[in-house]
Amino acid sequence: MSAHSAAHATIQLKVNGRSYRRSIPVRKLLADVLREDIGLTGTHLGCEHGVCGACTVLIDGRTARSCLVLAVQAEGSEILTVEGLAAPTAPLHPVQEAFCEKHGLQCGFCTPGMLLNAVALLQEKPDPTEEEVREGIAGNICRCTGYQQIIAAVLYAASLRNGGAASRQSEEVTREETHHA
Ligand code: FES
Ligand code: FES
Repeated sequence: MSAHSAAHATIQLKVNGRSYRRSIPVRKLLADVLREDIGLTGTHLGCEHGVCGACTVLIDGRTARSCLVLAVQAEGSEILTVEGLAAPTAPLHPVQEAFCEKHGLQCGFCTPGMLLNAVALLQEKPDPTEEEVREGIAGNICRCTGYQQIIAAVLYAASLRNGGAASRQSEEVTREETHHA
């Protein structure tokens, strides 16, 4: 980072494998820099104070609420946003595929944060139980789905990666949801 005035700095951010050099106010949040200065509007802003999880990105593989991180703090780290999960012409990431397949979204506002949270969860726990998925997504608020389909989607994503038991759990969660609907 090079400070060229008291309030601005030129920083280099690595996002989805690409480097971006931008001159920004030092107090500007990572979420705003991603959206306004880099043009990656897939990162959504809901509460803007760390509660809803809509702005979740991965920084060096770990989930972070980009509304609570200054962009200057992220310099030198690898940032992954929802746009980095799959190139526009490439097949969907398994987690995206699972959310489509299991109807893990409605309006889609929470979805980018949910997807990145799920990616991090499955990196840490490749074959999670339903309870672990519930705990894992507990910090991301969804106003539409009632969460059941999201849980089914994350379990299904695990099964796509593993091919096995998680697929059966996902079926059970889906069946339970259908039964209670
Ligand atoms: S917008 Fe960042 S947690 Fe809600
Ligand atoms: S799908 Fe609408 S907020 Fe989650």
